[in-house]
Amino acid sequence: MKEQNFRSSGWFGRTGKDGFIYRAWMKKSGIPEHAFDGRPVIGICNTWSELTPCNSHFRELAEHVKRGVYEAGGLPVEFPVLSLGETLMKPTAMLFRNLASMDVEEAIRANPLDGVVLLCGCDKTTPSLVMGACSVNLPTIVVSGGPMLTGKHKGKSISTSDLWRFSEANRAGQMDDMELSVAEAGMCRSDGHCAVMGTASTMACMVESLGLSLPGNAAIPAPDAARKVLAQMSGHEIVRMVKEDIKLSDILTRAAFENAIMVNAGIGGSTNFVIHLLAIAGRMGIDLSIDDFDTFSANIPLIANLQPSGDYFMEDLYYSGGLPVVIKELLPYLNQNCIAVNGKSVAENVKHAECYDENIITTMANPFNRSSGFIVLKGNLCESGAIIKPSAASAPLMKHTGKAVVFENIDDYKKRIDAPDLDVDENSVLVLKNVGPRGYPGMPEVGNMGLPAKLLAKGVTDMVRISDGRMSGTGFGTVVLHVSPETADGGTLGVVQNGDLITLDVYERSLHLHLSNDEIAERKKNRKTEIKIEARGYVRLYQQHVQGAHLGADLDFLRGSSGSKVAKDSH
Ligand code: FES
Repeated sequence: MKEQNFRSSGWFGRTGKDGFIYRAWMKKSGIPEHAFDGRPVIGICNTWSELTPCNSHFRELAEHVKRGVYEAGGLPVEFPVLSLGETLMKPTAMLFRNLASMDVEEAIRANPLDGVVLLCGCDKTTPSLVMGACSVNLPTIVVSGGPMLTGKHKGKSISTSDLWRFSEANRAGQMDDMELSVAEAGMCRSDGHCAVMGTASTMACMVESLGLSLPGNAAIPAPDAARKVLAQMSGHEIVRMVKEDIKLSDILTRAAFENAIMVNAGIGGSTNFVIHLLAIAGRMGIDLSIDDFDTFSANIPLIANLQPSGDYFMEDLYYSGGLPVVIKELLPYLNQNCIAVNGKSVAENVKHAECYDENIITTMANPFNRSSGFIVLKGNLCESGAIIKPSAASAPLMKHTGKAVVFENIDDYKKRIDAPDLDVDENSVLVLKNVGPRGYPGMPEVGNMGLPAKLLAKGVTDMVRISDGRMSGTGFGTVVLHVSPETADGGTLGVVQNGDLITLDVYERSLHLHLSNDEIAERKKNRKTEIKIEARGYVRLYQQHVQGAHLGADLDFLRGSSGSKVAKDSH
């Protein structure tokens, strides 16, 4: 191979003591001398962990990436980074997204890498890796782990969104513990992440619509052989990207972000999309605001029939033609010339896409739901914004005025929600405070708080719920999320009291607390908003530096990029 002056030659291309050190310890793995002839060195950033069950197949996946890298004449080197398992980490994996991104950024920059393959799966493992890689800006490609096969229970298809239904049925006495346990065993039948259009699938669609993965990446089920082929092809592609010096900044333009917002509306993606895309844009120095999510999704209806906004599962999306079919249908709205990792435009990449099942992917002319994407709400209760996902909400509640039933924090909610004497009815508005990024800290997915047991027993299935927290991508309901400024930052949410009237008007994009400005100011003056800052460690750093949800909840000093140059070279 003709030697190009790749970044890794600053390590392996050296002579003398330094070159000796850089190569000798690598050779202990059996890497021969000719592998250090100046060929591209490709890092495979792996989030495999037995504590992240959604990513438990990533060691095998990495082997398929390596095949492609070798095949294209590169040298693959796999390295682990902090893996964020959504189901096990406490208090919430979101608290550690920014920490993982720091790990990724520093690991990439500090090592002899020319290009990077990011192995992403469970919810936060995608944004954390992409954010970290953006702050280095090397040639980078994403390989998602793929969704798991659809779960089964009593002959019916199930997945994560059913968890909420099962839980409510159990609390209402309609599903006993034994049946709950049987359903638990049928939920996760294979490798892969959640099988609905939850946050993990949304993130996989996000990287595909941004152009960060090969076409088709999002929907191929984890156990399908096509996933292994895609991994191998991605290994091949990253070597080409390094040779052609195609960096993240060549792909992640403002137009690519606009495309991602529109595609996300078409598929009814998770509300977490907003916070993660804002954070990624912040790393790239792209001027993206929360209002852009409303602007660019306003004309896009729901054209994918996937839970939680619809009926089907990621496996069905794959069999119907995958995300390229959705993108092809949206082409007239998209910035068609954006380039993906394979060097082709959006339009070229979906040219041959074909829909095989119109029950799963429909046309713009005949959508499953005219309203999709996110509505960004403004008003005296959320001066910097809040979001609602209309496709997951109940139409009769989209314009609603009700009396607030206030929970000061999540413990207060848990203690009182099922109390027989809780003063609540189906017209009430449930308000949960202190679950924002700084206040909780970490912004947990509790915004779709369960309804009071006594109302469930009456058959109530939805109520307006408002909080400064997030909601699982698999959740649904008329749920106002990401209220900003959050309670801990002195937001108006913090002064809402039981019995205050609140109006949600999704059509007018407003969220209004029926109090005068003077009354709000007076209550704020008398309110103690001081939060307990942890004494030490990462959580202290997080609380001191995390930005509001409307900015992506990144740490202020992590926004932007430091590039790939190593600041000091001690050798
Ligand atoms: Fe990992 Fe849902 S728990 S994707």
